[in-house]
Amino acid sequence: MARRHGIDNGLTNYGDPDFARFLRRSFARSMGLSTELLNRPVVGIAMTPSGFNNCHRQMPELVDAVSRGVLAAGALPRPFPTVSLGEVFLSPTSMVYRNLMAMDTEEMIAAQPMDSVVLIGGCDKTVPAQLMGAASADVPAVQLVTGPMMTGRHKGERLGACTDCRGYWQKFRAGSVDASEIAQVEGRLSVTAGTCAVMGTASTMACIAETLGMSLPGSAAIPAVHADRLVAAEMSGRVAVALIDRPIRPSQIITRASVENALRVLMALGGSTNAIVHLTAIAGRRGIRIASTRLNEISDETPVLVDLKPVGDGYMEDFHAAGGMGALLRELRPLLHLDTVDVTGRTLRQRLDEPLDWVDRRVIRPLADPVSTVGGLIVLSGTLAPNGAIVKRAAATPALFETTGRAVVFTGLDDLAARIDDPGLDVRADDILVLQNIGPQAAGMPEAGYLPIPKKLAQAGVKDMVRISDGRMSGTAFGTVVLHVSPEAAIGGPLAAVRSGDAIRLSVADKRIDLLVEPDEIARRLADVRPPPMPARGYRRLYRERVLQAEDGCDFDFLVPPRDDA
Ligand code: FES
Repeated sequence: MARRHGIDNGLTNYGDPDFARFLRRSFARSMGLSTELLNRPVVGIAMTPSGFNNCHRQMPELVDAVSRGVLAAGALPRPFPTVSLGEVFLSPTSMVYRNLMAMDTEEMIAAQPMDSVVLIGGCDKTVPAQLMGAASADVPAVQLVTGPMMTGRHKGERLGACTDCRGYWQKFRAGSVDASEIAQVEGRLSVTAGTCAVMGTASTMACIAETLGMSLPGSAAIPAVHADRLVAAEMSGRVAVALIDRPIRPSQIITRASVENALRVLMALGGSTNAIVHLTAIAGRRGIRIASTRLNEISDETPVLVDLKPVGDGYMEDFHAAGGMGALLRELRPLLHLDTVDVTGRTLRQRLDEPLDWVDRRVIRPLADPVSTVGGLIVLSGTLAPNGAIVKRAAATPALFETTGRAVVFTGLDDLAARIDDPGLDVRADDILVLQNIGPQAAGMPEAGYLPIPKKLAQAGVKDMVRISDGRMSGTAFGTVVLHVSPEAAIGGPLAAVRSGDAIRLSVADKRIDLLVEPDEIARRLADVRPPPMPARGYRRLYRERVLQAEDGCDFDFLVPPRDDA
C-alpha cells in the first residue's frame, strides 16, 4: 500500500518537524509497533468503555473486531478513549454531557494522527455526540453501534429495557405489583450487554445513523451479543481503511437529502422524541436546518411501519430477525431520496436495488397496511410554545388528542417530587399536568417530562393524562406527553406564565398547544420571571451560557455554522 500521512500526520509543534516526527516514532515504538506497521495509514477507533456504561459492556470485543478488520485491510488501528455517557449513571442528566462528548470526539479526531476513524457508541447520547463530532471534524468516519440487548423473561412474559421498566413501575405505584415482585423484575429487565431492547433513543439513533449513511448497511439492529455484531465491527474497520484511499467525508454523507431520509425513518419507526433534538444537532453541524413545517409534512406523509415497543409490541431482536433497516427502507423507497451516499460509497438506490430474501410482516408492515397511517412525531406550535413543542402521537392516547383542560402546575422537579403523590393534591383525570423549569438552561433538559400519574389517580385506574413540559422523556416511554416546549420557562417562555387553574388546549389535529389566557395577562406574569442562578465555574457554566434551545438541537451556539434554512 502506498504511503499515507499515517502516524506522521499533524506533528506536534516543536518548531522542528523532523525532530517531531523522530520523537513521535520513537515513542510509538515503545508501544511495540514495528516500523512496517508504523508506515501504514492509521485508522483511529473512538472507544467508549466505562464502568458507568452497561450499554457498552462488550466494547473490548468490538474494538478487537474493528482492529482485526483494519489490520486485514492493511492499515494500523489505534484505539483511543473519549468521554462515555451511560444514560442512567449521570446527574443531573446525560443530556448536559452530550455536547462535552461531541467536543471531545471532534477534538481528538482532529488533534491525533488518523486518516479515518471508526466511532463506537451505543447508549442514548453517545451516537449523537459521535456523529456531531465527526460531522464537524469532517474526517472520513464510520459509526458502529454496540447493538441492542436481548429480552429477559418473567413469569412467561418477555421483558426488555426500558418500556417494561416503566410499565412495571406504573403497576407497582398503582399497587398491582408488590415489592417482592418488583425486586424480581429488577433483575430480569436488562439481561445482556447492549442498548435498550425497544425502539428507544439508542435504537432510533442507530437506525438514523444507518439511514444517514454513516453506518454499514444492515448494521443498526444486530443484537449486541450476536456474532454478526462482531462481523459488522470487522467490516467497519475494513470500510474505514477503504475510505482512506477513496475519501467520502461526513459532509458528503450528511446532507439535506439524507437528513430528510432520516426523518422519514424516524417517523416510520415511531421513534424517540429525543431523536428530533439529536438529528437537529447533527444536521446543524453541517449547517442544515429542517423547518417544523417540513418536519410535519414528512410526518403526515410517512406511516408508522414498525411494530415495536413503546408504540407496538416487539423488541429490537424481532426487528433484526424481521429484516431490519433493509426491509424498512425498501418499504419506504417511494418516499426516500435515493441519491444519498453511504460510507461504502454506494447510493441508497444501489443498496435498495438488491433483492431481500424475507420480511416478517408482523414486525415490519407494508406501506399499504401500516401500524398507523401517519408518522410518530409532530411539532406543535401555539401561544404556549411559540418556537415549538413535540408530541409523540404514535405513543399517545387518541382520546386525549383534542383536549381542553385545567392546568395543574409544578414549578420544578422539587415541587413535583413534593406534591405529585400528595393525597390532598387538587387534580382530576381530565386535568393537564404542567412541569416548568426543566428546559436546557434551567436543568439541562432531563427526561422528567414523563410526569408520573398522581398516585391517587393511578390507583383509581388512570393510565394516561396530558402532560406538558420544557424537558424531554425517555424514548422508551409512552403517553400523551408534550415535550421540548420552547422557549423554555426559565428564559421567559410562556410556559412560565401558566398557573394552576388556567385552561390549556391541545389539538393534535391542528398541531397546536395554546394557553387560554389573555396575552396581556401572560405578559404581566412573565415580567416576574428571573433566570436560574448561573453555575460558578467549569463546564456547567459553559453549558448554561451557550446552550441553544430544543429547536436548535441544544447544541452550543459556538459549534454551529451558519444554517441553510428550508
Ligand atoms: Fe443505554 Fe438505554 S440506558 S440505551
